[in-house]
Amino acid sequence: LSHGSPEKEKTLAMIKPDGLFGNYTDEIKRVILHSGFSILKEMSIQLNEVNVRLFYAEHSKKSFFPSLVKYMTSGPVFVMILEKVNAIADWRALIGPTDASKAKVTHPDSIRAICGLDLERNCVHGSDSPQSAAREISFFFGDTLSSGFKLFGASYI
Ligand code: PPS
Repeated sequence: LSHGSPEKEKTLAMIKPDGLFGNYTDEIKRVILHSGFSILKEMSIQLNEVNVRLFYAEHSKKSFFPSLVKYMTSGPVFVMILEKVNAIADWRALIGPTDASKAKVTHPDSIRAICGLDLERNCVHGSDSPQSAAREISFFFGDTLSSGFKLFGASYI
């Protein structure tokens, strides 16, 4: 027997530049709320190269990294803290596979299938573990001591 209600969890969701250029923000937020998430905080922000290199630091040695940095600085992003029971896995399930071109075939109802294009322009991001959720939430929404440094030079819009 378990007691009490399950713990709510927080995750970081991001609408990437192609999602904003395509005007998908309102539709994605409707899906988020309809799926039982609460949106605790949100902001749009134009990241610079330094910010993106820090955010995706674990991928810095990958061949696609320069292209990813260029893409992620090509326009503003919209970040949200989502909360619900099992938020991290449920948001990842809702967005679908990383490669949006494959998502269109295997997960046609996923967010990436609807608004993404390929492996790079995949419209949305979601934290992949409790550790990365904590890091990514603090990256964007932490106090000025932690986050103000990481977002140095970014433009709040
Ligand atoms: S890996 O290698 O499995 O850890 O990478 P993966 O989790 O698939 O992807 C990590 C993020 O990098 C982006 N990505 C790419 N961008 C540009 N070109 C290519 N080829 C490419 N492959 C992966 C991918 O969209 C992931 O971004 P996030 O924001 O984490 O979803």
